[in-house]
Amino acid sequence: MRREVIVSLLLFLFFAVFSSLLVHAQDTWTWPEKPQNLKVLPKDWPGSRLRPVMVGFTRALGVRCSYCHKGVEGKPLSTYDFASDDNPNKNRAREMLRMLNDIEEHLKKIEPSSDRRVNMWCHTCHHGRPRPTTLDEELGEQYRKKGLQAALDDYTDLKNKYYGRAAFDFGEGSLNVFGYSLLENNDIAGAIQVFKLNADMFPNSANVWNSLAEGYVKASDVRKAQESYEKSLKLDPANQSAKEALERIKDAQPNPKQK
Ligand code: HEC
Ligand code: HEC
Repeated sequence: MRREVIVSLLLFLFFAVFSSLLVHAQDTWTWPEKPQNLKVLPKDWPGSRLRPVMVGFTRALGVRCSYCHKGVEGKPLSTYDFASDDNPNKNRAREMLRMLNDIEEHLKKIEPSSDRRVNMWCHTCHHGRPRPTTLDEELGEQYRKKGLQAALDDYTDLKNKYYGRAAFDFGEGSLNVFGYSLLENNDIAGAIQVFKLNADMFPNSANVWNSLAEGYVKASDVRKAQESYEKSLKLDPANQSAKEALERIKDAQPNPKQK
């Protein structure tokens, strides 16, 4: 009885070790000596030259190999079919390589202002994201798909995730542009909410208060428009357009005591 237990235990151990070795063998994947399907990069490039380029792609876009290749995330690379063009992102990336070649051609036509040319890389545009939208485009997309609150939540999430990196411009310009796009879209209340958020974030920017004032003018909220223009003028007394707007508001109020 005891012996049987030991034998089956040994058998179990044997198979466990054996199968883990098998899995391990599957796991080891090496860069191909002769890639099969290069259409943009030099066809005779061996895997050793491909490797830094592919790793560079993953970093530039903040993705893994499976983003462009046929394979399942989390599965060993040996199960991937790297030569396959089934994943549409692979051809998108190829077009990007061609685009970079075109850009290089244009850059060669200008005399650089410094002794060195500036290089264009994938991350010059992508900054660690697969879709290199600007922040205001990203917020606009959320707004169109899910509404204002989703866009504002997205702003907070993106700020937590990307602030201090080059991925998005968290300066006052992005919310300002987004706010004006809402104004154009006649979502005045939404625009005011966005300009207010910007004013919370950049209380020392004359421009941001000026935008908020414009929102209030559109909403016919004269008192708040006046307040915001005054804040803007205090920060930048030379702002002629704010001065004129304030004059117009005052002229439009025949009785100064009337609110
Ligand atoms: C942004 C998209 C992208 C990412 C991410 C990416 N690749 Fe690629 N990969 C390509 C493109 C495009 C080609 C084909 C280039 C060409 O046609 O000249 C390619 C080709 C290859 C090839 C050559 C296949 C063959 O036989 O023709 C291998 C191997 C490869 N990639 C491995 C990887 C590995 C491993 C990773 C992850 C570390 C990775 N790639 C990440 C886009 C990508
Ligand atoms: C001049 C700026 C620029 C450069 C440089 C650039 N890209 Fe792009 N890339 C874009 C833009 C813009 C898009 C979005 C196109 C769209 O969907 O409208 C994009 C989209 C992509 C996509 C599709 C992503 C998706 O989810 O839709 C891939 C993959 C990609 N780029 C890979 C690369 C690679 C790899 C490089 C370097 C070889 C590169 N890009 C260089 C601007 C650039």
